Amino acid sequence: MLVLGIETSCDETGVAIYDSDRGLLAHALHSQISLHGDYGGVVPELASRDHIRRLLPLIRDVLRRSGARQSELDAVAYTQGPGLAGTLLVGAAVANSFALGLGIPAIGIHHLEGHLLSPLLAKDAPRFPFVALLVSGGHTQLMRVAGVGSYALLGETRDDAAGEAFDKTAKMLGLGYPGGPALAKLAERGDARRFELPRPMLDRMEEGGGLDFSFSGLKTAVVMLARKHAPDEQTRADVAAAFQEAVVDVLIAKCLAAMRRTALDRLVVAGGVGANVRLRSQLDAAAARAGFRVFYPEFEFFTDNGAMIALAGALRLRGQDSGSGILDSVACGFTVKPRWDLASVAAAASTES
Ligand code: KG4
Ligand code: ZN
Repeated sequence: MLVLGIETSCDETGVAIYDSDRGLLAHALHSQISLHGDYGGVVPELASRDHIRRLLPLIRDVLRRSGARQSELDAVAYTQGPGLAGTLLVGAAVANSFALGLGIPAIGIHHLEGHLLSPLLAKDAPRFPFVALLVSGGHTQLMRVAGVGSYALLGETRDDAAGEAFDKTAKMLGLGYPGGPALAKLAERGDARRFELPRPMLDRMEEGGGLDFSFSGLKTAVVMLARKHAPDEQTRADVAAAFQEAVVDVLIAKCLAAMRRTALDRLVVAGGVGANVRLRSQLDAAAARAGFRVFYPEFEFFTDNGAMIALAGALRLRGQDSGSGILDSVACGFTVKPRWDLASVAAAASTES
């Protein structure tokens, strides 16, 4: 099965071709960081227009490099949601037009499903079932993943997503967009012990707070710190380090609790914040102590990309999700879902192994 994958949910145009037998044949990514940099965040209209400019040249490029012919494609998978309505529509329109022209199915993929399956692109891929920690700019969730299409929510953020907290805190520290990588870099020079920041929701774990997260209080605590102390370079680095350490501590404590609760021994970490070096080193150490393994996507697939969407499409196709309506949407009329709950994704093709 040869699947073209298209990702346009936010500020990255991602395209890839995945073959169920041979794996990932080619992928390409265009990041809009320089486009939005001056505005301190993503400007949806600019993002949509840029996807329109980039998408077809990227598809042509990926097809050429994959060695595959357009006529050999079995399906086109695209991010149907969640994301920005305008940018999603660009991907959906191109994917469905392509599918209609070629007479093949267009498969609408949940963006987070793409992220949580992305470690399956790696050589050392996890087997089902596993726990997934999804940490992106828009979501922070712990899921129990029994197979493709079988996702049970264990916990999620009650306010900001982890990536959003990184981005907002970075902005307060005068760092550019996207804030996560810039804050992590600044934190390398900081002393995380100089300032004590709260570990939100950890104290409430035993009182029904369970596996949920909350990051907005942490952001407020950083504002207070920034007001109290002189904004010299070392202080900014110390605040960045203290913030990163607090987020990492909370994420790890919740992962450990999720592993205990599910009694599983495989944890998958996906989404942009998973690229955080401190998170990964601390999590690996905690996992070694607790006796479970952590699986990550290859580094380039932590953040948004077309490869994870092509893969999710191929897995959906293999499961032949006809009952779920996923393959019924061939081109004539399509919709996007800017807000979409992952747990509601149909479980028709569960492939627990
Ligand atoms: O998964 P992703 O590319 O897009 C969404 O689906 O949201 O994640 C982007 C998020 C941003 O908030 C970005 O600041 C954060 O991931 N991020 C990081 C790092 N790299 C990206 N956060 C912390 N440390 C990093 N190294
Ligand atoms: Zn994402």
